[in-house]
Amino acid sequence: MHKFLIKINLMKIYPAKYLSGEINLPGDKSISHRAALFSAMAQGETRIENFASSADCASTLDCLKNLGVEIRRDNSTVFVKGTGKNGFQKPSRELDCGNSGTTVRLLAGILSGQSFESVLIGDESLSKRPMRRVIEPLTSMGAEFEAADSRLPLTVKGKKPLQAISYELPVASAQVKSCVLLAGLNAEGKTSVVNPKSKDRQPTSRNHTELMLKYLGANIEEKYVETGDGFVQEITIDGGSTLTAKDLLIPSDISSAAFFLVAATCLNGSELILRNVGLNPSRMGIIEVLKKFGADIEILNEREVCNENIGDLLVKGNGDFAPEAASNIISGEIIANLIDEIPILAIFGTRLENGLEIRNAAELRVKESDRISAVVENLRRMGANVEEFEDGLKVYRSNLKGAEIDSFGDHRIAMAFSVAALFAEGETTINGAECAAVSFPEFYDVLGEIVN
Ligand code: S3P
Repeated sequence: MHKFLIKINLMKIYPAKYLSGEINLPGDKSISHRAALFSAMAQGETRIENFASSADCASTLDCLKNLGVEIRRDNSTVFVKGTGKNGFQKPSRELDCGNSGTTVRLLAGILSGQSFESVLIGDESLSKRPMRRVIEPLTSMGAEFEAADSRLPLTVKGKKPLQAISYELPVASAQVKSCVLLAGLNAEGKTSVVNPKSKDRQPTSRNHTELMLKYLGANIEEKYVETGDGFVQEITIDGGSTLTAKDLLIPSDISSAAFFLVAATCLNGSELILRNVGLNPSRMGIIEVLKKFGADIEILNEREVCNENIGDLLVKGNGDFAPEAASNIISGEIIANLIDEIPILAIFGTRLENGLEIRNAAELRVKESDRISAVVENLRRMGANVEEFEDGLKVYRSNLKGAEIDSFGDHRIAMAFSVAALFAEGETTINGAECAAVSFPEFYDVLGEIVN
């Protein structure tokens, strides 16, 4: 059995031979946030199953409780008593969003349409992240804000009703799109969000909000307008919509699955089944890219649950996953589709014949850490040859060596480099490994179960 040595803040990881077994991963973080928030805004009681165990989603539940919502939790099952979209109470203290960008940006949209003032705060990392992207559209809907340099703490002075707008998204961001649509639920008339252009008729960012709002009965429509060289998607929500409580089942998180998909692909002889993984097309970029490079990933038992695609993934390490023919540049539209998987994709790049170049990914600089510099710094510590660009990085095929890794307090950096350690030579230490709990508290336990 593979051994981890756990100290409070520090994890030592050694090379592995292969991964094997069958695992059920925790619920999807993005979908769990939405399930909690939308069921709180619905009429009636909701039972949410397979709710994410992540610290981020616990922050969302805490904020909702602070807004007067009755919530009961029994492990991964959460019961929410909806208050209706206008039934929140003025919070008795600041709303602490912890490390969670999704919590703060979606809540900003919801709180903008309430008739009280509230203050959103977060941890050190979240307090550095840009909020102008939500302040701007919400201000044009009539809400008022106080925030030094458009960062947290953010005081939201709600307005009832808000004014409907048509908003052209400057970035392909699901958080901003969701924020405006949620504000639109409390606006007079119809609010539209116009997404950046895409080559095909497909959402340019994850569309869990649209799917779940529709599932809960909101009057929300989408249409694609042809522009000659592509399509522009416009999503419209009617401010007169109400949400009706319906039980929800959360698929397992494909972003958590990504670490094991890469590890199993790179460790020859691996055979792993991941059950009930969310397979929403707007999150499938990671599988598309891994398969393009020859990864042996099969989708089994595909079905639809609460408007979301879900299925089992069978991944095998076949030892031949790097055909030289595949283009080694990942850029453009697919970036938003795999934005959270880029740290682990960069690790994968060290195993590819022609390496991997990732561009148009400047958004990574304003995530939980500056993920471009965090990945480059740690890859260099492991002896990899890597170039840094303002909007991405290029990693060359490299044999990794065990090293001391800094998680920079970022969950996805800690987990990505834990996977790198499995095929590096010698011992790797992950400093600040406990931050994995932000999205995946069981990560090291699950890895311990399947690693050989
Ligand atoms: C998320 C959207 C993405 C993603 C984040 C979760 C969401 O952020 O990186 O981890 O749940 O809507 P952006 O919308 O800022 O791109």
